[in-house]
Amino acid sequence: MKKITIALDGFSSTGKSTIAKRLAKELGYIYVDTGAMYRAVTLFSMRNGYVSDEKTEVNAIVKTLPYIRLKFVFNENLGFAEMYLNDENVEHEIRTIEVSNQVSKVAQIPEVRQKLVDIQKEMGKNKGIVMDGRDIGTVVFPDAELKLFLTASPETRANRRYKELVDKGEKVSYAEVLKNVQDRDLMDSTREISPLKQAEDAIEFDNSDMGLEEQFERIYNFALRKIKP
Ligand code: DC
Repeated sequence: MKKITIALDGFSSTGKSTIAKRLAKELGYIYVDTGAMYRAVTLFSMRNGYVSDEKTEVNAIVKTLPYIRLKFVFNENLGFAEMYLNDENVEHEIRTIEVSNQVSKVAQIPEVRQKLVDIQKEMGKNKGIVMDGRDIGTVVFPDAELKLFLTASPETRANRRYKELVDKGEKVSYAEVLKNVQDRDLMDSTREISPLKQAEDAIEFDNSDMGLEEQFERIYNFALRKIKP
């Protein structure tokens, strides 16, 4: 069967990864969470003291980029690939609110984006891939056969994220999560390079009032139509 490239972009906490993971599983495709890569570089920079609430040492971050090795390792039990930073499994640590609060600053650095975009292009060169992020349909795979742009209201997204974090045992308030969602929206969509924006040929998909099953069915059908026109 013909293999295609599927680009899933959109604001944070729109459920991109849930949809993308399932889509990849059903189609037998590779799934790549590019946000995890930006988060891993951020974690590395935080651990080295290059980025915090007070500062962002861009030069130091750029200089140490060659020492960052990123790898996805498939976990059979979980059914998806986990993020490894220099051979350490950082899947849990990269999802904390502390990393979420710093990641947009690191994701703005052109050299960081260049490094990660190069890796992403390489991962998708044989197609058969579902990649989620912010610039997949615009920068990484401008020729993707299927591009989706997911949206939902900031409150809906903050609610989903808040529940996820509380379920994982993190101590956060809804107000803090909403502020993080709004701050990241603003930074991600106004940064100079590769800002979050909908590709002209992307299908916009607002899932504020849509259950997971319905979303999946619709998106899966979009994919099937591209695979078997
Ligand atoms: O999808 P996420 O929330 O895990 O992404 C974390 C951050 O990384 C997000 O605030 C923006 C950035 N990002 C990006 O700039 N480009 C991508 N392709 C993916 C994520």
